[in-house]
Amino acid sequence: MKVTFSKTAKQSLQLLILPLYKEDLASKSLPKSLKDLLKQSNFSAESAKVLSTFISDKSLPSQLLFVGAGSKKEFNGTLARELGGTAARHAMQLKKTEVAIEFSEDLAVYLEEFLEGFFLRQYELNSYKTTKQTSHKVNTLQLIIQKATKAHRDALKRAELLNQAAVLVRDLVNGPSNIINSEYLSKLASKIAKDNSFKKIILGKKELTKMKAGGILAVNQGSKSDPKLLVLQYDGGPKKEKPIVLVGKGVIFDTGGYNLKRSGAIEDMHQDMAGAATVLGVMSIIKQLGIKKNVIAITPVVENLINEEAYRPADVITMLSGNTVEITNTDAEGRMILADALHYASEIDPQSIISIATLTGASFVALGHRYCALLGNDDLMRADIQVASKETDELAWSLPIHPDYDKEMNSQIADFRNYDLGSGGGAGTAKAAAFLEKFVGNKKWCHLDIGGTAMTTRPRPYQVKGATAHGLRILLRYLENQQS
Ligand code: BES
Ligand code: ZN
Ligand code: ZN
Repeated sequence: MKVTFSKTAKQSLQLLILPLYKEDLASKSLPKSLKDLLKQSNFSAESAKVLSTFISDKSLPSQLLFVGAGSKKEFNGTLARELGGTAARHAMQLKKTEVAIEFSEDLAVYLEEFLEGFFLRQYELNSYKTTKQTSHKVNTLQLIIQKATKAHRDALKRAELLNQAAVLVRDLVNGPSNIINSEYLSKLASKIAKDNSFKKIILGKKELTKMKAGGILAVNQGSKSDPKLLVLQYDGGPKKEKPIVLVGKGVIFDTGGYNLKRSGAIEDMHQDMAGAATVLGVMSIIKQLGIKKNVIAITPVVENLINEEAYRPADVITMLSGNTVEITNTDAEGRMILADALHYASEIDPQSIISIATLTGASFVALGHRYCALLGNDDLMRADIQVASKETDELAWSLPIHPDYDKEMNSQIADFRNYDLGSGGGAGTAKAAAFLEKFVGNKKWCHLDIGGTAMTTRPRPYQVKGATAHGLRILLRYLENQQS
């Protein structure tokens, strides 16, 4: 999309979008002819209400779209994102590809959030059809702001970058597992490293076997593809500052293994690398955003399949940490690979660790599509993540790890078990996190379970059905807020 700033809307464009506060309807800056028109049409600028109309003013595009922003005093960043999403949806429905949007000075304060919503809503599913589909995406966008400043230009740049990363994450999560496979993620990680001159380490089966990453190897046993541990290092902060480590679950496809998933639960499991995709999404723009922190991304990549080599229920696995784990359910595979990645992360001696994963279906049962689950061993860190979550409207809700849940992950024959077999005690999300906590050593750690939010069937005004990239903006905002 080509985006430019201007003072007046180019007449040759197909559509002029005018977001309006309720208060604007009485303002002097709105021409009387438009005021009359809005009055006649009973348009009161209620939030998310729109009015589309034609005008014969030779100096303006011939079609106008008014979008209600509600009342000025109730407006905020979240509503601005939704407003942008609503504007984008209507532009697409009207099949307008060349569009101008006029912002009042007050609304231009929320330019970044508005554009974020506008760009995010324009996402179209990557098509694998052989006949080309016509796209109704906006390809030319003029932003009409009377006094455009550097802040406005920065807002545009940031919204464009966030969108670019969100497109990357959503394409990866929506994409089929025979295409978005471990080789694909590994090449992508290499490309991100090359484009940004990051240090990278890519470990394959040989290296993982040598270092005894038993959790990663066990889960991948049933797959012909090479398991991977991808590590990217961005040195954006002061030399002596310890890094923040991001760890993302990369299960290319989760059949459940011998504890096979039923139909209805299995089809969407190409999404099971959403944590890895999110972490790679962060790394893909972190440098361009100018975030002044040292950040390391670690993603274990495997595929949970079945063949005669696959790991079985009741196997006992020796993990990278040296601990033994009894497999009580082969479908609780995410925690096995994250355990090794978290141990690897803790050995780097980081400032803190954040893991992100489509770890449990239970997080959807508890919180639906709106909130991901937030757990961890450090209250201050959790509070900071909660701030980032609220600011970006990627909501997260805290769940507790009770010491009893921790005990339920102990095994009779090994150090731990990966599933609380037979207890029927609920709290699946917290127990998965209790298992992870055993592998972070004494490091500060928080965990986002995006099992319910990585994909949605109930999109918000700036989302579309399918992958959401939920967590991407939380992580980026958290890192930005940590800059001193
Ligand atoms: N990848 C799933 C979790 C999941 C389910 C993510 C639905 C997104 C949507 C995970 O590996 C899994 O299978 N978890 C089990 C845990 C159980 C075996 C303890 C689950 O949620 O049922
Ligand atoms: Zn599973
Ligand atoms: Zn899984």
